[in-house]
Amino acid sequence: MREQLKRFIDQMEENSVAIIPAAHEKSRSYDTEYKFRQDSDFWYLTGFPEPDAVAVIDPQNKKSPYTLYVRPRDPLMETWFGRREGVDGAVKNYGANKAVSIEKFAADLPKLLDGRDKLYYRFAVDQTLDQQILSYLTEQRVRRLKTAYPPHTIIDPTIITGEMRLHKTAEEVELMQVAANIAAEAHILAMKKVKPGMNEGQVEALMEAYMKDKGASGVAYNSIVGGGDNATILHYVENNMPLKDGDLILIDAGAEYKGYASDITRTFPVNGKFTEAQREVYDVVLDVQLQCIEYTKTGNTVRGRQEFSIELLTEGMKKLGLLKGNTKDLIKKKAYLKYYMHGVGHYLGLDVHDAGRYFTDQGAKNSKPLAPGMVLTVEPGLYIPADDKSAPAKYRGIGIRIEDDVLVTEDGNRNLTSKVTKDPDEIEAIMAKSRK
Ligand code: GLY
Ligand code: MN
Ligand code: MN
Repeated sequence: MREQLKRFIDQMEENSVAIIPAAHEKSRSYDTEYKFRQDSDFWYLTGFPEPDAVAVIDPQNKKSPYTLYVRPRDPLMETWFGRREGVDGAVKNYGANKAVSIEKFAADLPKLLDGRDKLYYRFAVDQTLDQQILSYLTEQRVRRLKTAYPPHTIIDPTIITGEMRLHKTAEEVELMQVAANIAAEAHILAMKKVKPGMNEGQVEALMEAYMKDKGASGVAYNSIVGGGDNATILHYVENNMPLKDGDLILIDAGAEYKGYASDITRTFPVNGKFTEAQREVYDVVLDVQLQCIEYTKTGNTVRGRQEFSIELLTEGMKKLGLLKGNTKDLIKKKAYLKYYMHGVGHYLGLDVHDAGRYFTDQGAKNSKPLAPGMVLTVEPGLYIPADDKSAPAKYRGIGIRIEDDVLVTEDGNRNLTSKVTKDPDEIEAIMAKSRK
């Protein structure tokens, strides 16, 4: 049993049972599927890599507190679609106390749930499983129960797993550092290879090939590779345009390693040399990013950090002549949204936008304080639309974001992605050297 699962069990309420499903394969077209990605909570608790499994965690069951329902072995299916652990493998290789064919799950539900006061289950993720649980409850409702009752309370297990996943263990940080290193090196490779005339897709391809070559399972999210004003489209993922001399390129690409994500953005000149105007905007974003990294430390809050980034960027926009007026008024009017319309960062872990709550109350009044073990991105940006007549002409069409992954520590923080420089002079030097 994984350490994480033991800690989950420790936090379960008295006389409760948890049902945690794996992900399913998803159709991509006709009879082919997207590459399978395990559900993050299921992976976190079990480490079991296959689709269509369900973990049943019942601490009262002293003999088998942890049962895995898995796809049964099936020579024909395995010949066509790949190996399966089966019930024997689930016990032998994944530490389940007991394993049962998933085909028996629905019929077993009364046996699993009757007599437990509380059920940990997250509705509205897996509709088939929702239906099985609702059918069980429907049946119980119409029976006069003489021996056992169904659970009277249903609790979302992400209340526990979200908080657990937010605070990374040393082992998790090690895996995240590997994911970060691989992506950082891929960004350096891009700096060395990018040149005018290349297609955005070629840059994406060489980075992703590098990540896989270094042991990543792939990208942690669809890479964003945008030349010129494509960089002003936040989730630009077409990545299919030629890169132009004189433009910037914005690359937001991260690797996934053993389920953990990295998330890095770098922006640099396609031809290796920033123009004066590009450099002016870049310097503003870089200065804000460095200050926001500094801010990402124990005791400060998530909201405080966002407000800090807004204040600094609003000042920056004034300096560039994008906004005019009193900073406080501009912030009150949210004038910055025209050029900075996203958050300064997010939790990072198994999911690129990771689990865990950002507030400690329902009204979102109390922002969560940062604490050691949290990993957050720091990613301020400025995006000046090409057709923005109110912006100085020299800045139109410039989009810049700089993003690093930062671990909060006892005495400050550690930048997991510092391996790839963001210093504009160093970027130019790397690019010049690779062009000799
Ligand atoms: N790559 C997604 C993000 O930066 O949030
Ligand atoms: Mn991010
Ligand atoms: Mn990103």
